[in-house]
Amino acid sequence: MVWSAPHIGSRPVAILGGGVLGRRIACSFVAGGFNVHIRDPFPQAREDAIKYIDENKEFYTSFCPNGKPAQYGTYTASEDIETTVKDAWLVIEAVPEKIELKIDTFEELDKYAPKDCILGSNSSSFRSGLMLDKVSDERKKLVCNVHYTMPPMVRTVELMTDGYTHQEIFPFLSDVLRQCGMLPATARKESTGFIFNRLWAAVKREILTILAEGVSDAAEIDALWAHMFQTSVVPCQMMDQVGLDTVAFIEDNYINERKLDGSLTVDWLRSNYITQGKLGLKTPEQGGIYPPSTVAVNPPLNPAAAAQAAAGTEKQMPPIFFLDVGLGSNSPSYPSLAGLTTNGKILRLDEPNQPPKALVTGLPLPDGIDVDPSANRMYWTNMGADVTAKDGSLMSSTLDGSDKKVLLGDGVLTTPKQLVLIKDQQTGTEKLYFCDREGCSVHRCNVDGSEHEVLVQNPGGVGDLLHWCVGITVDLKERKFYWTQKGPAKSNLGRIFRANIDFLPGETASNRSDIEVVFDKLPEPIDLEIEAETGVLYWTDRGEHPRGCSLNCARVEGEKEVRILARRFHEPIGLKLDLARKQIFVCDLGGSIYAVDVETGKKTVVHRDDGSYTGLVTLPAA
Ligand SMILES: *[C@@H]1O[C@H](CO)[C@@H](O)[C@H](O)[C@H]1NC(C)=O
Ligand SMILES: *[C@@H]1O[C@H](CO)[C@@H](O)[C@H](O)[C@H]1NC(C)=O
Repeated sequence: MVWSAPHIGSRPVAILGGGVLGRRIACSFVAGGFNVHIRDPFPQAREDAIKYIDENKEFYTSFCPNGKPAQYGTYTASEDIETTVKDAWLVIEAVPEKIELKIDTFEELDKYAPKDCILGSNSSSFRSGLMLDKVSDERKKLVCNVHYTMPPMVRTVELMTDGYTHQEIFPFLSDVLRQCGMLPATARKESTGFIFNRLWAAVKREILTILAEGVSDAAEIDALWAHMFQTSVVPCQMMDQVGLDTVAFIEDNYINERKLDGSLTVDWLRSNYITQGKLGLKTPEQGGIYPPSTVAVNPPLNPAAAAQAAAGTEKQMPPIFFLDVGLGSNSPSYPSLAGLTTNGKILRLDEPNQPPKALVTGLPLPDGIDVDPSANRMYWTNMGADVTAKDGSLMSSTLDGSDKKVLLGDGVLTTPKQLVLIKDQQTGTEKLYFCDREGCSVHRCNVDGSEHEVLVQNPGGVGDLLHWCVGITVDLKERKFYWTQKGPAKSNLGRIFRANIDFLPGETASNRSDIEVVFDKLPEPIDLEIEAETGVLYWTDRGEHPRGCSLNCARVEGEKEVRILARRFHEPIGLKLDLARKQIFVCDLGGSIYAVDVETGKKTVVHRDDGSYTGLVTLPAA
């Protein structure tokens, strides 16, 4: 019989299970514009699932091919199966992995779901063909596996027949899934492990054999893998993470089905690890494939870092000084008491994901910071709370926050932004370079605030967004400084300029002839840093996705192609290069600090809370 697709209209997709994965699956449908009905027996799980979708649906749309839907799907959650599925066009079950439970669930679904409703199983270990004992023959043609991995970051979904499924269902469901921003793949036949899990099983099987034969060890295998595929997702770490008992259990299925010899895989794993209580992350005291000291505690932020740690090349995090502009959730003083009390802070982070220490508090919208460990001083800008009052300032203190001094203030600066300290061997000077956003200008002065000069003065003022200057960096090798003019919000009119450190004779900030546009039509570039040796400029961009909210780089000479190193920040501002360790630190207004691997673009969160971060600098060795 010919299959015709169910009419969707306002009918919901029913998801059975509102847990960690169920709510993510639901969220992807909502973001794709489909109505969703979640079933979970626990009130707390239902509440959490709805909250998760409230908070994340917008983010999920950033993966959808058509961007935001005309309207999001609606979403509700209820307790019983019958109500949840009675009008559904698709049901995805994600109940616990017990075959008897699956069989009974499918019996109920067959009974309560509309005749044309497609039934999908999220099972990873069972073919849907094994769940049909109590299902009518007509329904068998509408049952298949719909196996999700872990959205939002991993977006694969594998579809597979139960042996009877109408073939037309697969292209139909694939279209729906793509609309939700997923990457669907269809196993053309029944296959234990679908497609990717089989491939992955082969990798694990051969690794166990390599280890059992004593040919190599976990750290070496992971290091090779990480380098070969330029990835931080490495197989031995993954096995420890999943749990060696689970790894063995999965492999048993293949052994039974294909009559494989398990002596150098599961048998070896059981006698050397599992029976000795070495399961991986679940047993940090005993360890797993990795010895206990190197087993990262749940979950490892960065498996590559852990692999490198095991190989003795761990990435290190230098102390980070960063600014909380004070506009996060706990800022009662802004903007009602403008200019009087404010909520900005200078914070110091010494260890990843440990609470930072507040060094200075009560600042009026701090934005740019730099440090000088040899002089035990730090320098920062405050935008000030009132643009029209020109109450921006430049300040300094010791590295522990004492001996605070105002270097420039009192109506001289409007809204000073990024700041860098430059020790110029050629002129024997130490200068602070910084931009003044609404002042539409670039400045420098001595570290005590003396010899204050304006280097660039654009025409216009507070409302002239195209002329606002924001980020700054200095290239002593070519004797140029670079600055950003971000343009109006999300406008794609952002530009990066440069000019000479030393004025040409007879020229001033308002009439200098050496200003060049280096890049234009950028979403909204913010802070900058150049690696002078290679002539590569790095910058954050807080413009619109997909080009904005990104970390970018480009050569400033020759082919000036802009490369996006990492995306999906939440309005990134500050950055600091740590290229010796192949990483860049980035912070964003969304309250996170990331270490970005410059080779893979992988972002590792080193700090996250409800702050709102602007400037960031690392403490170099004195
Ligand atoms: C669905 O499949 C994934 C991957 O195997 C699994 O992690 C998840 O627990 C399954 N079920 C639910 C309830 O999410
Ligand atoms: C720039 O302005 C200064 C000061 O007004 C003036 O002396 C100088 O001649 C001008 N230079 C050019 C190239 O216009």
